[in-house]
Formats: sequence, structure tokens, C-alpha cells
Amino acid sequence: MYRPSHLHRGWKMTLPGARSVHATVRLPVLLCVLVVVLVLVVNTQLNHLHNTAVSPVHQPPLIGHPAGQHAADGSVEEVGAPILEPVVAGTGLVKDPGVARGSGRESPATQAGPVETGREIKTKPGQSAPGTPGISEAEIAAYTQVLEMRMEAAGRDHGVVGTRHCSVLAAVNNTRGTCIDTSCPTAFHTSPKQRVRQLVAPKHMQVTADQLRQVLDIGRDVESKRYIFITAASSNHYNESQALVYNMRKYILPKLHPDSYSFLYYDLGLKPTERRRVEKNCNCSVRSMPISVLPPHARHLMCYAWKPAIIKALLHKAEVLVYMDVSIRFRDMDLDAFWAGARRWGAQFLNSQDSIPNHTVQPTFAFYGDPACLYWPYPELLAGFSVFHNEPFMQRVVIDPWLACAFNATCMCPVNPHQYRICAHTERRVGQCHRFDLSSLTLQMAKLYGDTFGHLVLRTNHPPKVARNDRMGFFTD
Ligand SMILES: *[C@@H]1O[C@H](CO)[C@@H](O)[C@H](O)[C@H]1NC(C)=O
Ligand SMILES: *[C@@H]1O[C@H](CO)[C@@H](O)[C@H](O)[C@H]1NC(C)=O
Ligand SMILES: *[C@@H]1O[C@H](CO)[C@@H](O)[C@H](O)[C@H]1NC(C)=O
Ligand SMILES: *[C@@H]1O[C@H](CO)[C@@H](O)[C@H](O)[C@H]1NC(C)=O
Ligand SMILES: *[C@@H]1O[C@H](CO)[C@@H](O)[C@H](O)[C@H]1NC(C)=O
Repeated sequence: MYRPSHLHRGWKMTLPGARSVHATVRLPVLLCVLVVVLVLVVNTQLNHLHNTAVSPVHQPPLIGHPAGQHAADGSVEEVGAPILEPVVAGTGLVKDPGVARGSGRESPATQAGPVETGREIKTKPGQSAPGTPGISEAEIAAYTQVLEMRMEAAGRDHGVVGTRHCSVLAAVNNTRGTCIDTSCPTAFHTSPKQRVRQLVAPKHMQVTADQLRQVLDIGRDVESKRYIFITAASSNHYNESQALVYNMRKYILPKLHPDSYSFLYYDLGLKPTERRRVEKNCNCSVRSMPISVLPPHARHLMCYAWKPAIIKALLHKAEVLVYMDVSIRFRDMDLDAFWAGARRWGAQFLNSQDSIPNHTVQPTFAFYGDPACLYWPYPELLAGFSVFHNEPFMQRVVIDPWLACAFNATCMCPVNPHQYRICAHTERRVGQCHRFDLSSLTLQMAKLYGDTFGHLVLRTNHPPKVARNDRMGFFTD
């Protein structure tokens, strides 16, 4: 596992009192909280170590929770250059990288610290979470603190979440934009803890140990790197993928130390000649996506269930993982700000202006237990550019439920993808089309981040663009 070293910088603080001092020392508190989460997870893992078929040399051990759902890993692996720099409070920006160098590997004593595991923590009667086999109250509390820290640091969003009433949009025939449905009978739970719980506690949102093992197997022999870039293409996107590789070489890769990253290209069905050309020209690691790890209903490429599977398989091998559809085109972006945003908010995406319910079918809302009308204020997060920070919160509260959705026949792909691809945009109505991976991810992020959802949208100078049909014949050998 790739372990950010900055997590240790908050150790001096007394953990129980940490929340009361956050107004003045918010960042140290965040770091403390992250330490707590890390220690909890490591400790839980040590307690429930779970044997798998995976080679212990290349693969961190799977964590088995009581019910065996949960991924993460406790191995220590030093990769590449010093990992994280100290962060300037309140800005997320990196300052004086020299300070952090050499610090930061967690000592064995730290890992074995006297942190309670969930089994020892008693929940009050009204507080117990029915159907929480795979997760402890302590873990939920720790993830909640991470979310609260982020929300407190965030303030209101950048104007991404809709604030106008839907009736106002309707009056001008705007059927696509984000808006508030004042007739919606419910609201998101105001308690961050309950929102976290809603994503991690229900059994149907947990991946099974078996599913997890198969998914992690996808990335079993991938080396850990600080940054992992991933794309994936089938034959019909081969030419676009060449343009992406060209673009990466022009704008991104020259700015990175060659040892700090890897670039993986997943073959989703290239022709043999195409595959050979990618292998010869791409200067990336070409791999086949073993689609059979997915249940039959999710194997159709247009269900996009392969995407959360690949991301889950590799996130624990990186500090930051960047998944790119072949249509992504970088420009001259400030990379340091980009990485800082991923660390600060846990994930970064591009968005569209389209309100999500229109592009998401009813069963997906049912999976998450919410009425669709709650989500009108939220625009699509484009999972075609998905940046994730490797941390327990993201792994457990975001990626695992997303993967469970991919595996569930009623969540990510409950419809025939051919029939739900096209969004007509002539009226406002739930589920006129469906966006699969993007739909489910947006729902999860909206539920978790609420008003601060806008911070998940990438805000660097010159963010990447989506350029569908931008093709190139770059692999000429
Ligand atoms: C909205 O659409 C309706 C029906 O298509 C039309 O009659 C009306 O003039 C439109 N209103 C505006 C503000 O464009
Ligand atoms: C890719 O480009 C080649 C060469 O221009 C062309 O022959 C081929 O049809 C293109 N493939 C697709 C899927 O567009
Ligand atoms: C290929 O990648 C290696 C390191 O990953 C780098 O040193 C080399 O310059 C790259 N070659 C090209 C042609 O980009
Ligand atoms: C799939 O999700 C639904 C909720 O939408 C749940 O009732 C069902 O048990 C899940 N199926 C599996 C196999 O987990
Ligand atoms: C929802 O989809 C309908 C039909 O495709 C479309 O007319 C409408 O503009 C979309 N609305 C939103 C909010 O995306």
C-alpha cells in the first residue's frame, strides 16, 4: 500500500479533544483524524487478518472484517520520492517541501497502538446500526470526522450545486440545469455520520470478500507508484486512445519524475494488431481487463462496471490514481495544485451542467435509499476523469459502495445500456437516460458532500477537457 507520510504530522495532538480546537488549528486536526482512521483500519486489519490466494509478496493482505467485506491493506511499502509535503493551512497548497523529507514512516509501535476496534465499542440502543456486519461504530466515527473536517474546511461550494427552484427553471424551459425541488418530501440527513452510515452500513452496499479478492487480482502484479494513470479502450476507441497518449506525453509525463508514476492501458477488446501497436508505441503498461470478474449482467462494456473494478484494483497501489477515458485531453495544468486538490478533497472530477436525476434510472436511487428529487441540485460528475486519493475514507465510504453498486444487478446497470444511452433533453423527468458509473458515483458524492460537493470539481488553471472523437494515428510502427 502506498502510504502518505504526512499523516504523522498531527501526532502531537490529543485525539479526544481534537475537535474542540479545530477553529484555530484545522489542518493539524485533519491530520490527526487521518491518523486515527489509518490506525483504526490497520488495527482492524491486524485483528481480522484474512488469508487470501493472493501472494503476500506483491499484494497487501486483504482486510477481513467480521463479514469479510473490506479492503485496504496494512503493508508498508516505500515508493519513489518522499511522499507528501506539509500543507499550508486552509489552502491545501504545498509549502516548503524540505520539511517533510525523510519523516513519516509509521513506526510499528504506532501501528499497534491501543486503538479500540469496533468489537470493543458499545453502541447505545438507539444508535446501533442494524445490518452493519462489515463495519464498526469506531470506523464510522473516524470516517465521519474526515468528512466533517473536509466540510468545515470547505465552506459553501463554488456555485456547482443548484440553488434556484425548479419552478424558476421550468418557466424558462430549462429542463437540464440543477435546481431545488421544493416539493421533495425528504432531505439528506443533516448528520454527516448518518450519511456515512448510509453508505457503509447496509449489507447490499458492501462488497463480499470473494468479489473483493477477484477485483484486487486485476492489479495484483502492478507495482506501487506515487501516481498511477489509467486509461482503457476497446477497438472502437483505439484512435482516440492514441490521441490521449500523445496528449499525456505533451502535457503531463514530462513534468513527472519517471520513477514517480506508471501509466496503465487496459485493453477492453482491442484487435490483435491494435494491441501490438499499443504495446510497441505507447510506452505504457498494457493489460487485459478480465471482464469475467464481473457478474454476467455487468460485463457489457457500456455498463462501465469495469471502471470501478479497475479503480478499486489499483487505488491502494498509488497515492493518487488518475483514471482517464480516452477522450480526456490535458492542457497546461498546474500539476502541483492538481495533486493538492486530490489530497485535500479526497477526489476530483470534471462535471457537466446536467442535473443528475434526469440521467439516472429509478432503481439506482432505490439502491441508495433516496428519492430522486433530492438530487436535482447536483450536476453530473464525469467519472470519465476520476481522480482518487488513496485513503481509508475514499476506499471504504466511496469506492467500496461504488463497486458494490457495480456488482448489484439493480444499481449500476439495471437497464439495457443501448436503450438508455441517449439523453433527449426535452423535458425534466427522472431516468430518461442513464449514466451507469457516473450516475452512481454522483449520487454517492452528493449524499456525502452535500453543499460542499462543488469542491469535488477540479479547479486548477486549464483543467482537462473532454474531446470526444478527437482521434490520431500516433502509433505508426
Ligand atoms: C417553453 O415551451 C413552451 C412549449 O414548448 C412554449 O410554449 C413557451 O413559449 C416556452 N417558453 C419560453 C420562455 O421559451
Ligand atoms: C482508426 O484510424 C485508422 C486509420 O486512419 C482507420 O483506418 C480506422 O478505421 C480508425 N478506426 C476507428 C475505430 O475509427
Ligand atoms: C518511456 O517511459 C520512460 C519512463 O517511464 C521514460 O523515461 C521515457 O522517456 C519514455 N519514452 C518516451 C518515448 O516517452
Ligand atoms: C442489490 O440491491 C438491492 C437494493 O437496491 C438489494 O435489495 C439487493 O439485496 C442487492 N442484491 C445483492 C445481491 O446484494
Ligand atoms: C432530462 O432528460 C430529459 C429527457 O431526455 C431532458 O428533456 C431534460 O432536459 C433533462 N433534464 C435534465 C435536468 O437533465
